[in-house]
Amino acid sequence: MRQHVNPLSKNFNEIEKIPSLIEMFGDNKFNLHLDIGCAAGEFLFDLALDNTSWNYLGIEIREKLVKTAKLKVRDREIKNLYFVFGSANNILTDVQNKFIMKNVKSISFNFPDPWFKKRHYKRRVIQSEFINTLSNSLQRGSLIFIKTDVKDLYDYMDSIISSNLNFKVIDLRGFNYSQSFNPNKLKTAREKYVIINQLEIFERIYIKT
Ligand SMILES: C[S@@+](CC[C@H](N)C(=O)[O-])C[C@H]1O[C@@H](n2cnc3c(N)ncnc32)[C@H](O)[C@@H]1O
Repeated sequence: MRQHVNPLSKNFNEIEKIPSLIEMFGDNKFNLHLDIGCAAGEFLFDLALDNTSWNYLGIEIREKLVKTAKLKVRDREIKNLYFVFGSANNILTDVQNKFIMKNVKSISFNFPDPWFKKRHYKRRVIQSEFINTLSNSLQRGSLIFIKTDVKDLYDYMDSIISSNLNFKVIDLRGFNYSQSFNPNKLKTAREKYVIINQLEIFERIYIKT
């Protein structure tokens, strides 16, 4: 399977409309977490089973992975998990999907594609315009989690988010995970690989003020 998909390709201009919260989840009053670039969704399946009083939404640009994940959700009758196919940038900046931003409590960007060449930086998922859109539509107190093993990508994402004055860095040492979308600090697929290979992890949490 192709690992890297160019999110700026015209193929992703046509976007999937995200169904209403009632259509997606068994209980639409639960806190909602959004995971961007969720791949096959293993992390979200683990979270949804571990933490049944939150709803989880994953957005992934590789269609086959999303199709398989959706079938798995249906077969296992999981009511607090939903997957959407497409480029997160296009999906979340579209006015018809704005309601998601109003309802999410937190968003994670776990090990996004690094796009190492400078001329490809524009393909990285975190971009100023995208962060401005999030900052305009997220509720105060919403959290953004970033995590990567690529220092250059971390610096790039951090400088973009930190330059938006609506987001403040939260001290990781004092952060209380028990109230978060991931109370048991479950690991993503990439994170497990990174830990086994003893690579460094760079992470930060921001709060919308
Ligand atoms: C390196 S993988 C990390 C997967 C997972 N988050 C983890 O930590 O194991 C990055 C994922 O982001 C997806 N992706 C890249 N750009 C995207 C975009 N603009 N919108 C949605 N998904 C994207 C890729 O297809 C890939 O599955």
